[in-house]
Amino acid sequence: MSSDLYIEQLRAQFPILDQQVNEHQLVYLDNGATTQKPLSVIDAICDYYQTSNANVHRASHALSNKATTCFEKSRTKVQQFINARRSEEIIWTKGTTEGINLLANIFARQLQAGDEIIISALEHHANIVPWQMLAKQTGAIIKIIPLTQEHCLDVEAFKALLTANTKLVSIAHVSNVLGVINPIKKIIDLAHQKGAKVIIDGAQAVAHLEVDVQGLDCDFYLFSGHKLFGPTGIGVMYGKYDLLQQLPPWQGGGEMIETVSFEETTYNRLPFKFEAGTPNIAGAIGLGAAIDFVNNLERSVLEKHEQRLLAYTEAALKGIQDVVVFAQNLNKSGAISFIVKGEHSTDIAMLLDAQGIAVRSGSHCAMPLMSVLQYSGTIRVSFSVYNTLDEAKVFIKALQNVIQMLQE
Ligand code: ALA
Repeated sequence: MSSDLYIEQLRAQFPILDQQVNEHQLVYLDNGATTQKPLSVIDAICDYYQTSNANVHRASHALSNKATTCFEKSRTKVQQFINARRSEEIIWTKGTTEGINLLANIFARQLQAGDEIIISALEHHANIVPWQMLAKQTGAIIKIIPLTQEHCLDVEAFKALLTANTKLVSIAHVSNVLGVINPIKKIIDLAHQKGAKVIIDGAQAVAHLEVDVQGLDCDFYLFSGHKLFGPTGIGVMYGKYDLLQQLPPWQGGGEMIETVSFEETTYNRLPFKFEAGTPNIAGAIGLGAAIDFVNNLERSVLEKHEQRLLAYTEAALKGIQDVVVFAQNLNKSGAISFIVKGEHSTDIAMLLDAQGIAVRSGSHCAMPLMSVLQYSGTIRVSFSVYNTLDEAKVFIKALQNVIQMLQE
């Protein structure tokens, strides 16, 4: 089967794509913000509420057992999906942001003044602000890996930032703005040589790249369900078992305890120690269905297709006068960012929307990166498995018209 035919078949599983927006066929190119959901995910959530809704791990009645089985099956699916050693290493969160906040809160109790945390110039606010809060609380120091002129992480500069005081390194696997794939394996190995723990923000990577946490040897890996064809409000924090065992819990409440008295509380075993309160059961089940969907995809076909979309779009953008494309010719995944000289990115995005084309504009929750790029915002096009080459062409033509209109 040709890849075009395969993509058409995939699209049929996403009913939302078949609609008119502003009297034009929808062209959804904002997958970095959230992906659309296939019918199998929507059905799994409906089915859970129609047949199995009950609280998990709390009761001995049949419905609760059924809900618990489905919920824990999803955890095992996540474990296998990222090749974790044990299912206890998979902690449910609300999303990547909550996972990083969880870690920052826990490490705030472990770190001291003068300890160092390294992040990079291209991080999302979710991988900056929690560390700033920790630094304020503890006196820890935050160091920033700069970008090279080509907009990739400067690994040589990273080596120079590492010291005996480096305790944590927290880096995006893929930049949410530039789409650049960071050399995380190299970063993990270098950080480990100094005894630092490494946290990987995988939010933009999991839907595009195969993730093997054992192969990477990262200490923590975080992602959100909604960028992986799953529902919002569910995410995953992977952590190495021994580390999770040593770390104290974050939130207190039901489920995370073993025994409670007014004198003393003992904590539950992993993974429940980090899961206080009723979890997002339907979300976890929906994410399990999303992983089934991804596991059934022809990954090699889709990788080539995505690279074709990126190559076409980058080349076509470069051919338009006054367009500046960032991170040109780099190994990218999913997204391309650009600006149009003299025009505001949000004006461009709104005029594209008027033609049914959804892109994201602005600072993309990465204001420090905007300072590095020296623009207040960019326009980001981000692809998923259901985007076609025709859609990329429709986008380029519409952009040319928008620029012409603004410059007349
Ligand atoms: N973090 C998401 C994005 O990059 C919302 O668009």
